[in-house]
Formats: sequence, structure tokens, C-alpha cells
Amino acid sequence: MSAIVEFQQIRKNYRVREREIRALDGIDLAVEAGEVFGVIGHSGAGKSTLIRLVNALERPSGGRVLVDGEDVTALDDAGLRALRQKIGMIFQHFNLLSSKTVAQNVAFPLRIAGRRDDDAIAARVAELLGRVGLSDQADKYPAQLSGGQKQRVGIARALATGPRILLCDEATSALDPRTTRSVLALLDEINRELDLTIILITHEMQVIRSLCDRVAVLHEGRVVEMGAVSEVFQNPRHPETREFVSESEIVRLRRDGGGEAAR
Ligand SMILES: Nc1ncnc2c1ncn2[C@@H]1O[C@H](COP(=O)(O)OP(=O)(O)OP(=O)(O)O)[C@@H](O)[C@H]1O
Ligand SMILES: [Mg+2]
Repeated sequence: MSAIVEFQQIRKNYRVREREIRALDGIDLAVEAGEVFGVIGHSGAGKSTLIRLVNALERPSGGRVLVDGEDVTALDDAGLRALRQKIGMIFQHFNLLSSKTVAQNVAFPLRIAGRRDDDAIAARVAELLGRVGLSDQADKYPAQLSGGQKQRVGIARALATGPRILLCDEATSALDPRTTRSVLALLDEINRELDLTIILITHEMQVIRSLCDRVAVLHEGRVVEMGAVSEVFQNPRHPETREFVSESEIVRLRRDGGGEAAR
């Protein structure tokens, strides 16, 4: 395996009035092609800032972000457009366009990318809706869908341009446990079948357990622990990690007590 995303000495400061906020403080991290990489950490740890650097929604204050070996901080507008076709993103609150149908939402990135062939777009949209199990929902509007269906539309839209990387920022946090499991199963399937690299932020440890190969723990803008999920969960070293793992153990024990399997 080789690195598809590399963070090198990344710093990110935000200036709010006269105050400097250190959101990321020296991140060195490599995500391997094809893996599902989880990022956990408390609110404000820098998780969203970190993944928004990958598709250049944020620019680092220092250091470099390499995607496929290419420094994304050095890209011009055309380079950025090309980069963003290689990277899809899904969000906690789905971020669908409410005035557009499901099919139009999924077609949107294709139109942004300059595709003009209506038949080809329709065929691609149909294929994507089939993959996420929404073939019969194409003409609905987002308000007419359940949360799980909305996130499936979000996934179809994120996959439209055939990206190699999918960024997920708390993508299942607004969903109930059963819907979460079905969305995770879909993400697992596209990771394997499309050979898609997934970088995923979550505060739900069962998401990490069931989907991720490796996990990094962010704390105050730094990576305080990183490794294979099984190792980190069995032998958490940093207090921050211990807190997350024990919280998840408690939830798991409660759930197991209620008769439901942990995963
Ligand atoms: N656009 C911005 N302007 C100023 N400060 C920001 C901005 N975005 C993030 N920050 C600050 O940077 C730090 C990291 O924020 P970030 O959103 O990356 O955290 P997070 O780990 O994603 O948190 P959460 O779990 O709450 O989503 C926080 O202190 C936050 O207030
Ligand atoms: Mg966040």
C-alpha cells in the first residue's frame, strides 16, 4: 500500500479578533490508499479542520498536504477543480439542496464538473441511485426522505465524479442506531468494491470498530495516538483515548445487556 493523503508538519491557526487559535499544531499523518481511516477527538480537537485540508476547503498556516503525491496547497483554480473531482465529502446534516430532487442533487457535481451530456448524466445518476438503494426515490425532494435516505443521497452525490477519496464528517451522527448500521454497511461496500479510501470523523466508537482499519486520536490539534483499531482499542495509552474507549465499552455493555450485539 502507498499513501494517498499525507499531512506533513501541518499547522493551522485561526485569528479571531486579536486572538490566535491553534486548531492544528504539527500533524504528521499518512493515510494509505484503500484504507478506512478514523479520526476521533473531543469537540474542538481539530478534526473537521484536518479533513477540510484534504480537499482544500481550508489552507494550512504551515506544512503541506499531499494528495496522490501532489501538494494541494500549491494548486491553482483548475488544479483545485480537478482535485475536488477526486474527493467526495459527506456531512452530518447531509447538506442537500432542498429545491432540487434526489436525481438533481446527485447530478449536481457532474454539472459543476462541466458535463453537458444529459443522457450520460441521467445514466450515471441512475447507476449511483441503484448503488445506494434509492432507485425508486429519484423524483422526491429531500424533505420527503428519512435521514438515512438523505445520507444515501449524500453518498451518491459524493460518488458522482468517481472520486478516489471519501471524507465523512460525523456522517452518521444524526441517524438512529439501525440506520447508522445500514449506512456503515454501504460505506464498507463502497470502500471494498470501488477501492475508495475513506477518512472518517466520528464520536461513535462503534463506527470506528465496525468500519475503520486505523484510527488517530486528536487532542488540542495534535495526534496523541494512532494505530490499528484493534491495537488502539485493546491497549489505549493516552488518557484521551482511554476516555473514548471506556465510554464506548460502557455503551457496549449496556447494549449487550439489552440483548443486542455490539456490531
Ligand atoms: N473558521 C474558523 N474560524 C475560527 N476558528 C475556527 C474556525 N474553524 C474552527 N475553528 C476553531 O478551531 C478549533 C478546531 O475546530 P474543528 O472544527 O476542527 O474541531 P472539531 O474537532 O471538528 O470539533 P467538533 O467535534 O465540535 O466538530 C476550535 O477551537 C474551533 O473553534
Ligand atoms: Mg467538527
